[in-house]
Amino acid sequence: MNIGIIGAGHIGSALAGRLTSLGHSVYIANSRGPETLQDLARKTGATPVTTEEAAQRGTDLIVVTIPLKKIPDLPKDLFKDVPAETPIIDTSNYYPMLRDGQLPELETGDLTESGWVQQHLGRPVVKVFNNILADHLAQPGKPAGTPGRVALPVASDDAAAKRKVMQLVEELGYDAIDAGTLRESWRQQPGGPIYCNDLPADKLREQLASLGTERTPEQHAGFLANQAKQEQAMAAQGIKL
Ligand SMILES: NC(=O)c1ccc[n+]([C@@H]2O[C@H](COP(=O)([O-])OP(=O)(O)OC[C@H]3O[C@@H](n4cnc5c(N)ncnc54)[C@H](OP(=O)(O)O)[C@@H]3O)[C@@H](O)[C@H]2O)c1
Repeated sequence: MNIGIIGAGHIGSALAGRLTSLGHSVYIANSRGPETLQDLARKTGATPVTTEEAAQRGTDLIVVTIPLKKIPDLPKDLFKDVPAETPIIDTSNYYPMLRDGQLPELETGDLTESGWVQQHLGRPVVKVFNNILADHLAQPGKPAGTPGRVALPVASDDAAAKRKVMQLVEELGYDAIDAGTLRESWRQQPGGPIYCNDLPADKLREQLASLGTERTPEQHAGFLANQAKQEQAMAAQGIKL
């Protein structure tokens, strides 16, 4: 496949390395321009391009993997010539304390994090790779059927795009689990039980079922409180995002 990746940080570079090793052509962009991505190109075999070129040349799939608060900085018409059937993956997470500042719709829970991204991009997105650490994603996954194979939730309102992305998740060595619509994607957000816990398929399905689909105010408050504790602990360790 021809895959465009917008964002060349932890997740973008991990995906670039894995996807080129599987034989895909990867076009990768950051905010500073292709000339700053020569090392990454040497390490991964991905082709450095501008953000606009990543959107144009990612004819089979586009991944947007930049800090949440930077999403509104992307050019407004970035995806205007991208065919409707090209899936756009969003890997975002909301870190209000350490990085993103408070975003009202995410504080109230009126939108999910990827719902907010989708609104800004003006295109349906597929939420995946948000709940696995970049270091883990950089390593090869496991063949299907391997005991303990990590499962990843995939959520989207676009069923065809979700199916295509689920195939790629399997190809990367993970069990792909249909985690429902974007409205239901709160379940894979920070502060919840399936965030960065590398669960196998049976446990992931159990957790999704026990959370239900419609977020209650108590669940929203609980996730935010857990995430605040996690961010405080990271700040105490001097971690910066
Ligand atoms: N790190 C993890 O383990 C992990 C795991 C799962 C999900 N996530 C989520 O995935 C997203 C990306 O995380 P990350 O850790 O990969 O971030 P990161 O290491 O901080 O990298 C961010 C990348 O986005 C680029 N960028 C920023 N603004 C841009 C713009 N306007 N146009 C084009 N590129 C732009 C940056 O380019 P410049 O350097 O040139 O500015 C950089 O290459 C975040 O929402 C994060 O929460 C992260």
